Amino acid sequence: MKVLILPDAQAATRRAADIVSRTVSATPDSVLGLATGGTMLPLYDALAQRHRDEGLSFAKVTSFNLDEYIGLTPDHPCSYHHYMQEAFFRHVDIDPARTHLPKGDAADPQAASDDYEALIEKAGGIDLQLLGIGQNGHIGFNEPTASLGSRTRIKTLTESTRRANQKYFDSFDETPRYAITTGVATILASHKCLLIATGTAKARAVVDMIEGPVSAACPASALQLHARVTVILDEAAAGEL
Ligand code: GLP
Repeated sequence: MKVLILPDAQAATRRAADIVSRTVSATPDSVLGLATGGTMLPLYDALAQRHRDEGLSFAKVTSFNLDEYIGLTPDHPCSYHHYMQEAFFRHVDIDPARTHLPKGDAADPQAASDDYEALIEKAGGIDLQLLGIGQNGHIGFNEPTASLGSRTRIKTLTESTRRANQKYFDSFDETPRYAITTGVATILASHKCLLIATGTAKARAVVDMIEGPVSAACPASALQLHARVTVILDEAAAGEL
């Protein structure tokens, strides 16, 4: 693991944007694994700005998002489809036909999960996987106890994750209980991973990920097994290392 500690979230975002820009500039038809969450918003802003100001093009990029809530339609304001549209896709030249997210509103979510995994394989796998981290060490929606060999499937969200994401919904009860997420093994199969964590709320999970034993108790710790992972932290998230 290459761990970079930057003074603040802004600097961390800039460094992450540099890595994504370099990847897309060097290989315009890269397959990007995309993540959601508050941490990614400034990164998507920075990439959209580079598209506007420097002509960084996503026209040939294929994207696969990590996860989607079950039960939300793509136009639901709290769905990750909607998040991606608003935060990134509509600001750049990415081809909508090349963007993919799990179908959270599918009649058969398990079949939709299997199809999604097959689609990633058909695309030749993920070149660069962006990742955030949950306060409990989840990556994607691979909650603690997720099998390290898991592929795309349905996961039950923990109460702590639902509480952390409740701010985006009207109430805790409306916060979805289930999601489709790519698995830990799907993530580990990516050619490169880039994880970003900012703020003190992530400090404990960051310690478990980097210094803890590799364990399903902290799914992010599985990244220790990956040969090409860059972790970008601000000083707050690195505070307990
Ligand atoms: C969410 C997403 C993850 C994300 C994480 C952290 O629930 N499923 O992909 O990395 O939780 O989110 P945030 O950046 O808002 O802290």
